[in-house]
Amino acid sequence: MKLLISNIKTLVQVEETPRKWVAGTDMANLNCIDDAYLLIEDEKISDFGKMEDMPNYDEMEGFDHVEEIDATGRMVFPSFCDSHTHLVYAGSREIEYTDKIKGLSYEEIAKRGGGILNSAKRMHNATEDELYEAAMERIHEIISMGTGAVEIKSGYGLTVEDELKMLRVIKRIKESTPLTIKSSFLGAHAVPAEYKGRQGEYVDLVINEMIPQVAAEDLADYIDVFCDEGFFTVEETDRILNAGMKYGMRPKIHANELDYSGGIQVGVKYNALSVDHLEFVGEEEIKCLKGSETMPTVLPGAAFFLNMVCSPVRDMMNAGLPVALASDFNPGSSPSGNMKFIMSLACINYKMLPQEAVNATTINSAYAMGVQEELGSIARGKIANVFITKEIPSVEFMPYAYGSNLIDAVILRGQRL
Ligand code: NIG
Ligand code: FE
Repeated sequence: MKLLISNIKTLVQVEETPRKWVAGTDMANLNCIDDAYLLIEDEKISDFGKMEDMPNYDEMEGFDHVEEIDATGRMVFPSFCDSHTHLVYAGSREIEYTDKIKGLSYEEIAKRGGGILNSAKRMHNATEDELYEAAMERIHEIISMGTGAVEIKSGYGLTVEDELKMLRVIKRIKESTPLTIKSSFLGAHAVPAEYKGRQGEYVDLVINEMIPQVAAEDLADYIDVFCDEGFFTVEETDRILNAGMKYGMRPKIHANELDYSGGIQVGVKYNALSVDHLEFVGEEEIKCLKGSETMPTVLPGAAFFLNMVCSPVRDMMNAGLPVALASDFNPGSSPSGNMKFIMSLACINYKMLPQEAVNATTINSAYAMGVQEELGSIARGKIANVFITKEIPSVEFMPYAYGSNLIDAVILRGQRL
């Protein structure tokens, strides 16, 4: 199977030598080739370059059955990597959305038994098939919006059986879509109502029952904890991460969304792949992240939807850190997996340049979910997950036209969908 995309107006995020991430002032640089071609063989990117340098494939051996797409006026991007979602869930929560509009805070809604516990109740009552069908609709939607890899968390189960149920659904999605999927076990997402006042016992359940069973079925790549004010403490997070790591699950955690919670420090201490949310980041947190292998990941959709303060993204980049962006697609705080809109939010609310936002949603978010060697840029040998835009004037037009669908065609694993 060979697919040749020719006359590409701009081929975006090109790498001759793949990098692990882009950091600091470098994030403003986006490598592009104008008037380009891209050759895909089987599932992989095999070559690219300027049209004037394109080999005469017509005359080459083995090239008699090449599918060709003429992309005149259109751009080609590597698919977005969405490194933080909770897209397996049962039922929407627009009633809480209305409560929020009326002025209730996230914590107040959580205290009333809403929030994560509301989703946990519905999760309990849903069958694996129902969850799978509903999640696949979301998967198809994000594919059409340009996502080529997605991380999905458990965390609406909160019992051994329901956490396993969620993770089995994620596994089934993994096996049935061309998207690259990574899964995270988030048993410590909230304390179930029946453990109220006995949080330590719930943490024991996560450590002694859930983690071993999740590992026995090989259901999770990563271990996550909602380490924040009112949820899990640094000490509890420390214990849970240790337990997960014993089974080979690398930490990748929720941190510093609601306060300077110490989440970043405990994440870095255990070499977390990423620490996510990061509304509360000061000098100390930045110092801690410097020199680490942990990707600071910001979730502008949740901050927008909950009307929170913005993470100090510019301070992190000025300090030389990389930054990734993800959607946080979930029913409570970010009911959308639209990564193009995430870029728009990042540009307007966080003052990221469009080039920085592209780096943060491709190569850096690929790192944040552990797939940077196979995805996140246009590089020879990487998996051919790309999208072709409609006719657009510039790269900047993507986040600028925040409400327009600008994707014309999606290619996953070398197959045009
Ligand atoms: O990432 N911050 C913690 N958890 C989710 C919210 C999930 C929910 O409200 O259902 C988040 O925003
Ligand atoms: Fe989240």
